[in-house]
Amino acid sequence: MDLKELINQIVSSPELHAKWLNSLSMMENTGARKISASEHQHLVDEIVLKHAAEEARHAYYLKSQIKKTGYEGCKTYLSHELLAPIQSFQYLHALDAAISRYLKNELGFTGNELKYAAYLLVTYAIEVRADDLYPVYEEVLKANGSKISVRMIVVEEQGHLEEMIQQMDKFFGNWKQHAVFVESLEQRLFEKWISAIRKTIQNQPEFA
Ligand SMILES: [Fe+2]
Ligand SMILES: [Fe+2]
Repeated sequence: MDLKELINQIVSSPELHAKWLNSLSMMENTGARKISASEHQHLVDEIVLKHAAEEARHAYYLKSQIKKTGYEGCKTYLSHELLAPIQSFQYLHALDAAISRYLKNELGFTGNELKYAAYLLVTYAIEVRADDLYPVYEEVLKANGSKISVRMIVVEEQGHLEEMIQQMDKFFGNWKQHAVFVESLEQRLFEKWISAIRKTIQNQPEFA
């Protein structure tokens, strides 16, 4: 089952779809909070503020779409209201921890520089994924005639990726080698997350 088929199965069940939206909302919210937490007390610029604000809005927007699935629930981010709750929570934290370790141990970053460099690489990896995942989700929504659309998120995530590349260019100079490293790290964590979701769906009686 490829990613598109998996999302298609999710979208065809109101409960799974609601939990999928809620899981994405939780992850967007975690992203927004991580960006805010990484901000320098004084040296925060417009791009970072815009980015934190837009990720927070994505979290809110995805949450607000849940009612359109017809499923009652998913009011909070408690485990039973998410898909693959453990992996959904771990995805960003594990990525952040591994990238921070890489920056500290391999590249010798410390203090505020470490925080900023981690913000750049973690966010870059997530944006690459977002630019892959949201268009597939949007395509499935359209094909199913869903009342939900994530087109606005697709457009904003594309903007974020371009902004991350500009910022990495300024900060690292030669950022491509770091990009390769973090993309492979992220790929592993994404596969863990997706395979946990796949298992959840296989355990649903109507899809078994
Ligand atoms: Fe986002
Ligand atoms: Fe983003």
